[in-house]
Amino acid sequence: MRIGVLTSGGDCPGLNAVIRGAVLKGTKIYNQEFVGIRDGWRGVVEGLTMPLDRHSVRGLSKQGGTVLGTSRTNPFEGPHGGPKNVQATLDRLGIDALIAIGGEGTLAAAKRLTDEGLKIVGVPKTIDNDLDATDYSFGFDTAVEIATEAIDRLRTTGESHKRCMVVEVMGRHVGWIALHAGMAAGAHAILIPERPQSVEQICDWAKSVADRGRAPVIVVSEGFTLDTMESAHSEKGLDAFNRPRLGGIGDVLAPIIEERTGIESRSTVLGHLQRGGVPSAYDRVLSTRLGMAAIDSVMNGEWGTMVALRGTDLVNVPFADALGGLKKVPAARYDEAAILFG
Ligand code: F6P
Repeated sequence: MRIGVLTSGGDCPGLNAVIRGAVLKGTKIYNQEFVGIRDGWRGVVEGLTMPLDRHSVRGLSKQGGTVLGTSRTNPFEGPHGGPKNVQATLDRLGIDALIAIGGEGTLAAAKRLTDEGLKIVGVPKTIDNDLDATDYSFGFDTAVEIATEAIDRLRTTGESHKRCMVVEVMGRHVGWIALHAGMAAGAHAILIPERPQSVEQICDWAKSVADRGRAPVIVVSEGFTLDTMESAHSEKGLDAFNRPRLGGIGDVLAPIIEERTGIESRSTVLGHLQRGGVPSAYDRVLSTRLGMAAIDSVMNGEWGTMVALRGTDLVNVPFADALGGLKKVPAARYDEAAILFG
């Protein structure tokens, strides 16, 4: 069997470890052959491939990014897109099945293609940790580590100047990165999309910290909304899947906090730093296991499913279930963290 492997959507620490896990198990145990698809769905649509043998995945598990390249291309768009064209391209390349490693947009496209008869299994990937069907997605742990270290660093400069430091983290419409990094770094307030807050509340937290002689550290998730906002702050248009590009709420909040409280405030947007560099040990292990499990799914012909983590076990979940809903931060988890705010 000849299997095409692609990584699509935003990159994420651990992608290379998934590729390595799949190729090593597939070649060692099942005698499969692999083809790397370059640049996500764009490579499928345009027939862009690269060799992916055992030798080419050597030492990959600790490498950040993706050796295959990625894109946010929608495989249903363009003159060569759509299920018939994609199947014809795969036939021409001699590819029997695809392993698609990606997030919500990637898996939604994979679902539509498998609904049309294409042979695809998925591996969920997102630093946002927002896929309901998996307890954790790889990349999340690394992103939290990076954000935590950044907040620790911002705290020392904030304390020196008695400034309020607003730190914006990624996460799209869920607040997992903010919650975990904020708790780990002892933030004085954590602002997440699941829990809109008023300017008054945020300023009260900042003031109570400053009144104790400390410098407030406020972690805000890019998808957070003030209770006066109708949607998340977005000023960079839409992505290929028509989703708003988020980012910049930290820069909105810092001047408001400064004006209302008199505390000099600065905003730092961590942005893509959270997706770069080497994956954590946890993410390397999870990614490797997911890659190997995806190979079993291919062998069992479980098309239209993705591998997922339940507790410490790996299971198979139909794309339809996996895309059913966002895994939001439960109210109880936020309330628990909020006891320490201010
Ligand atoms: O989904 C992962 C993610 O990093 C989000 O947290 C963020 O909103 C988005 O991707 C950024 O996308 P891009 O890399 O296209 O700017």
